[in-house]
Amino acid sequence: MPEIVQTSEYIIQNNIKIGAVDFRDPLIGTGKQALHIDWLPRKKRNDAYQSVLVQIILDDTNKTNGPLRVVPGTHKKLGWPDNYIKDVNKNHKNEKLVFLKKGSIIIINGNLWHGGTGNISGKKRRIILIDIRNRILPQLLNQKKYLSSKVKNSLTDFQKYLLGVREIDTTQKQKSYGSGHAYREKYGKKHN
Ligand SMILES: [Fe+2]
Repeated sequence: MPEIVQTSEYIIQNNIKIGAVDFRDPLIGTGKQALHIDWLPRKKRNDAYQSVLVQIILDDTNKTNGPLRVVPGTHKKLGWPDNYIKDVNKNHKNEKLVFLKKGSIIIINGNLWHGGTGNISGKKRRIILIDIRNRILPQLLNQKKYLSSKVKNSLTDFQKYLLGVREIDTTQKQKSYGSGHAYREKYGKKHN
């Protein structure tokens, strides 16, 4: 969708690439995440943003089926969320729950503090997540390696470009590349 591509290019201020497409469906009693960012923290004010998170909402979200929480404006902060707050698992005084109708799309800066909340009611709260990043970065999932040739052949030229699966696109060595390793170093295996 042009709106997603253009908003992502605006945030990242460069050409973009899809890092991965995931699906999330928190079951009853699960889904609570610490406040986190989806990329590494910026160190200096003029460091560029590298990551955008897109969520396509497949079910109406309300207070009890595990809506997204965000802390508006925090994408501008430097460093990790826990450089500013003691317990990233607790509710933040400025956090907002995001209630959306199915079919909505939310596009957020990957450096915005955010997290899923717990699904208490067990009502479906399915989302498709698209990780978008600066085109110069490796992907969260190596699409050239893992997409079947059948799928690759079914794509338009622009879809191939976005997924970085054309001959002329860089072939990355890593199967996966993201901020997960930095989180695991910081928090151990507990991070989900
Ligand atoms: Fe996230």
